[in-house]
Amino acid sequence: MWDTSLGDLIFSKQYLQITTTVPSTSVYGFGEHEHPSFKHNMNFVNYGMFSRDQPPTTFANLYGVHPFYMCIESDSNTHGILLLNSNAQDITLSPNPSLTFRTIGGILDFYVFLGPTSENVVQQYTEAIGRPHFPSYWSLGFQLSRYGYVSLDVVKKTVDRMRQYGIPYDVQYGDIDYMERNLDFTYDKENYAGLPEYIQQLKKDGMHYVIILDPFLSKDEAPGTYRPYELGQEMGIWVNNSDGVTLAVGKVWPPGDSVFPDYTNPRTADWWIQMCVEFKTVLDYDGLWIDMNEPANFGTGQYPGCALNDLNYPPYIPRITDYSLAQKTLCPDSKTYLGDHYNTHSLFGWSQTPPTFIAVQKATGKRAFVLSRSTFVGSGKYAGHWLGDNYSRWKDMHMSIIGMLEFNLFGIPYIGADICGFLLGTTYELCLRWMQLGSFYPFSRNHNGEGQTEQDPAVFGAEFAEISRSTLLIRYTLLPYLYTLFFDSHVHGNTVVRGLMHEFTSDHQTHGIDTAFLWGPAFMIAPVLQEMFLKDAIYSNKGIVDFGRRKKKNHDRETDIEWLPTCGQSC
Ligand code: GLC
Repeated sequence: MWDTSLGDLIFSKQYLQITTTVPSTSVYGFGEHEHPSFKHNMNFVNYGMFSRDQPPTTFANLYGVHPFYMCIESDSNTHGILLLNSNAQDITLSPNPSLTFRTIGGILDFYVFLGPTSENVVQQYTEAIGRPHFPSYWSLGFQLSRYGYVSLDVVKKTVDRMRQYGIPYDVQYGDIDYMERNLDFTYDKENYAGLPEYIQQLKKDGMHYVIILDPFLSKDEAPGTYRPYELGQEMGIWVNNSDGVTLAVGKVWPPGDSVFPDYTNPRTADWWIQMCVEFKTVLDYDGLWIDMNEPANFGTGQYPGCALNDLNYPPYIPRITDYSLAQKTLCPDSKTYLGDHYNTHSLFGWSQTPPTFIAVQKATGKRAFVLSRSTFVGSGKYAGHWLGDNYSRWKDMHMSIIGMLEFNLFGIPYIGADICGFLLGTTYELCLRWMQLGSFYPFSRNHNGEGQTEQDPAVFGAEFAEISRSTLLIRYTLLPYLYTLFFDSHVHGNTVVRGLMHEFTSDHQTHGIDTAFLWGPAFMIAPVLQEMFLKDAIYSNKGIVDFGRRKKKNHDRETDIEWLPTCGQSC
C-alpha cells in the first residue's frame, strides 16, 4: 500500500515532503476541490489544500481541507490514508502511480485504514475522526434559500407559491439580508418587520427556519449599541496581530471594519454559545448556518497588510490560488490561542463548529442543525456542508455529484450543492434537471445568489412545479430509508451516498462512474446531466416573462440555437 523508496524524505522547518507509490490508479478523495472526475487523473496533477473563500473552480483550493484518500487495489481490497496536518499543503498525483505530499509545517502524521472494503475504510476513518452527527428528520426535507429576498414580503410570496403548488418543503432560510446592515445577532426591523412572528407562523405550519451567522463582528458601531462586540471585547476573544496583543482588523460584510473571533480559545466558545442562545429569544431559529469561516476577509491580510517574514511569505508556497497565504483572509503571522494562524488557518471553521453545535442544542433543546462552509477532518461530527458558491451551469451539476461522493468519504454525509446554482442566472431546463438531481442530495436545498432571477421550484409555472413536486415526493417516500442510512452512518460510520464501486468493487468499470450514485447499497440515482435544448425560459430584468421552445440545429451550442414560436407557460 505504501512504498516510499521512490524518492527522498525531506523534513525541514517549513518544507516536509514524502512520496509513496500506490498499488493502483483507483484513487479518490483529497479536498476540498472541484475535481473533474471522482476517480483521480494521475497524470502529474497537483492540488493545493488551504481553506479559502473560493467559488468552485477546477484545481483551486476551496473552503475546507481534507488530506484523506482512498485507493482500491487491483485485487479490489481498499485502503484509506489520512495525513493529519493543518498547514498549507499540496499533493501531486503521478502516473507511476504515486503520490507526493508536501506540507509547510507540522509533522508527517499518517493514519492507515485497512478496509478491506470501501465501506470498511470509511467506517474505520470515522471511528478515528468522529462519527457523523445524526441529523433531525426534518432536516432531510426540501429546503429553500436565497441571498437577497430583500424583504419579508418577498419571502412570504415565495412560501405562498410553494404551497399553492403543493411542493414538499420543510425549511426556509434567512441569509444575511435578514440582518440589520449585515450585523450578526440583529434583524432588519424595516424590511423584515414581523420576522419573529412570521417564524412562529411557519412553525405552526410544521416548517423550520434556519438563519445564517458570519464569524466577524463590526467593531465600529456606536459605543453602547452593539453588545456582541462589546462583550467579546470584555472577554478578550479576538484573533490578534503578530504582537499577540492588538486586534486583527479586516473588512467583510458589516459596515465599518470587523474583528474575528478566535474559536480555538475556550472563552470564545463561551461567548459564542451565550450570543447564539440569547438570540434565540429574538429569532426562534431551528438551526444555524455558519458561513465565511475560512476565515474570509475581503483584503489580503488584515490592515495594514502582512509584514515581510517567513510565516507570511514562506520559502515554498503550495499550489494554492495566487500562491498567497493571506489573500482573502488574515496574515499567517496573526496569533490565535492555539498558535500562529500559519498553522491554524484551515482549522477556523472546524473550531467554530463544536461551539455552534452546543449552542443550537442548548437553544433548541433538540438535536442540533449546523451547516458549515469551512470544514476539516472530523467536522462531520458536528455539521453538514454545502458545496459553496457554485455556478448555474450544467458542468456544475455533474461536479456536485463528485463533491457529494467525496464528502461522504470525508465523514460528512450531510452534503449537497445549491440546487439550480448560486452564481449566474439559471434556465428553466437546467433548474428543472437540477431539482430532479437535488431531490436526491442528502442535504437538499435550492439556494440562489444575490441579484439573480428567482429560481424556487414554484416560480417557473405549473409544469415545472408539478415535475419538482413529483420528484420530491419520491424523496419524501424514501425518507425512512435515508434516515436509516444516516442512523447507520452515525452509529457505524458508513457512507450515506456512495459511488457504485463501493458495492460492485470487482467490476472495474464502476471505479470511474461519477454520473450516477447510490443511496446506501440499494438505490441508484442516474440523473440527466446534459441540456437537451427542449425548452427554456426567456428572462427580462423583471424576471421570467415567457417560455419558448428552442431547437438545437447541430452541436454548436452558442451559435445554432433557433427559437420556435412560444406557446406560453403551458407548453
Ligand atoms: C457566501 C455564501 C453564500 C451566501 C452569501 C451571503 O457567499 O457562500 O451561500 O448566500 O455568502 O451570505
